[in-house]
Formats: sequence, C-alpha cells, structure tokens
Amino acid sequence: MISIIRFMIEEVKKIKEMAIEEISKISDLLSLENLERKFLGRKGLLREILQKISQLPEKERPKIGQLINQTKKEIEKIIENKKLEIRNWELEIDKTIDITLPGDKFFSGHAHPITQVKNEVAEIFQSMGFEVIEGEEVDNDWYNFEALNIPAEHPARDMWDTFYLRKNNKLEAINDKQKSLKSKVYGLRSGASLLRTHTSNMQVRVMEKRKPPLRICVVGKCFRHEATDATHEHTLYQIEGFVVDEKISLANLIYTIKCFLNALSRKEIRTRIRPSYFPFVEPGIEVDIGCENCQGKGCSVCKNSGWIEILGAGMIHPKVFESAGYPKGRYTGFAFGVGLDRLVMMRHKIDDIRWLHSGDLRFLRQF
Ligand code: DAH
Repeated sequence: MISIIRFMIEEVKKIKEMAIEEISKISDLLSLENLERKFLGRKGLLREILQKISQLPEKERPKIGQLINQTKKEIEKIIENKKLEIRNWELEIDKTIDITLPGDKFFSGHAHPITQVKNEVAEIFQSMGFEVIEGEEVDNDWYNFEALNIPAEHPARDMWDTFYLRKNNKLEAINDKQKSLKSKVYGLRSGASLLRTHTSNMQVRVMEKRKPPLRICVVGKCFRHEATDATHEHTLYQIEGFVVDEKISLANLIYTIKCFLNALSRKEIRTRIRPSYFPFVEPGIEVDIGCENCQGKGCSVCKNSGWIEILGAGMIHPKVFESAGYPKGRYTGFAFGVGLDRLVMMRHKIDDIRWLHSGDLRFLRQF
C-alpha cells in the first residue's frame, strides 16, 4: 500500500515538473490553452490521479488529495504568469508597428459617373410611368433625320452632322442624299446607315410599331461629327422622352420636365421656358435652370445670364406623326431631349467633357 502512495506522490511530482518544463517552452496563447487542458482539464493528468484515490485506504486519501490540489494551484499560477508574459510580448510587438502609418488602400470598382446618373434618370422616369429603352445606335437617315422633318437639304442637318457607314467602300451618304431628295419627290424612304446623332431617332421607330398611349424614355449613346473641345465630344449620351396620347398638352410637358429636374437635383429648382426651334416639334421650347454657382446673379459658368440652358423640347410636329403613319390630327404628344453628359458635368462640376470618356482612373475614382 505504501508503495502505491509513494508511486502516486511521485506521479504528481512528475506531472508538476512536466508542466513547468512544457509551459516554459511555449510562446503563444493557443498552445498554453492546450497545455492547460492537458494538465488541469476534465480528462487531464491530475484528474487521472485523483480518480485513483479511491483505491487508497480512507485515512491516506486526504494527504494525497491535498497534494494534488496544491499542485493544481501551482500549475494554475504558472499558467497565469505565462499568460501575462505572452500578453506583454504581444504588446511589445504592437509597439513596433506604427499605427499612424496610412494603411494599404483597396479600391473597389464602381459604376462610371455617367452610368450612375443614367441609372438615376431611368429610375425617375420609370417612377413616372415611362418605359425606358436604349434604342438603335446604328440607324439610318430616315429615322434620324427625314422622319423627324429634317430633309436632306435642311440647314438643321449641319447641327447634327454624323458618321455615315460605308458599304462596298462607298460613302452611303452620297447615295443617300440623292435618295433623300427622291424620297421628297417620290415618297421613297432613304436608308443610308449612320450613327445616330440624337436619341430622337427612336420617336418614329417606336410610334411605327405601337399605338398610343406611349410614354417612352430613351437613354443612350449618340455620335456627332465634331471637332472635340471642352464642351463637345464625338460620343455623347442623351435622354429623350416622349409621350403620345389623345389630349397631351404643353402644360403636361412642362410639369414632367420640372418633376424630372427636381427629382434629379433632389430639390426644387428654378426653371425658365423660352421659345425655340427644332424641326420635329411645334411649338418648340428650351428650358433653362437657375445657375447654382451664382444663385442667378451672373458668373462665368452661366455666362453672366444667371441661367443655364439645359434641354430642348416641344409638342411633336404633325409631320412626325405622319412619318409614323398615325391618322392625321388624332394624337398629340410632347418630346424633349437632354444631354446626359451635361447633367453629369453639372452635378460634379466637371469642366471638360473629354474627361468623361478618357478612361483615366485618377479621374474616375473620384466618384
Ligand atoms: N434631339 C435634339 C438634339 O439632339 C434635342 C431635342 C430637342 C429633342 C427638342 C427633342 C426636342 O425631343 O423636342 O439636340
């Protein structure tokens, strides 16, 4: 019996020595936790010995029990000290990291500023019951010009000069001009392929296929044969809205435009309506908004007028309805066109349109 007691005492001593040695070797909290489990855990080494106590005569039990308890406390203390030691090391390491240094920047991509505004515009018009489409970017002379009351010899074509597409290496436009003249005389439709100069090309395309009521918003790319500068690009985005039904009035047009401009600016903005001319509307108007930069006092942004020209609009011309094949005098409608790039430039105070299509990430990451 004596030998069992001795054996157990020896065992407890060994466990303590083992614990001291193993704990001294480690340097991280996870290993320390593992050792704590190994020596003091529910299935740990000390517990194993404690379970053997029942084999001893009753009077011997307290002695060995006390030894085990005391050893347990000592090991706990060693573990506690080691924990503090490890935490201190970690603090030391932290001190060697300069937390005032700027961190690494991770750039997450985002939509292009034009796309951001384009999506907003689409949402606003959808909320007003418009159907939003992109429409054909490559179109023909008929939909882009003639159907909109801009025949070949019309001076307004100068404003909308575009890129014509070659067929068999011959400029279609030349053929087309002839065809266009013929179309006037013989009622033929000309077909020269071209890049659309405005989203107005979708007016007759949609009307031809569908009967009113129509509420359409075209948001898409257009092209111009331009010498580029700070305010002109060969590629631009436009928003064209048009509504056709039986009793559409100029008041409906003005209200729709105001709702749109207020929603986009997220506040009530001042507008001014002036008479204007576009071949496909009658009467035609232009809408100006109060200059935000000078609050209407006059500055370089608004060329001292206090107003900024923002869109063209009007009541759809009877000739356009005629092009679409609608019965004479039956329908009325309004249409308006806005440059999307222009809206983006105003929102972000961008001074040169060429930035928008430059693909320069230094520019784009600002939005
Ligand atoms: N399409 C015209 C342009 O590109 C803009 C425009 C003006 C559209 C008046 C319209 C309108 O629908 O009624 O300059």
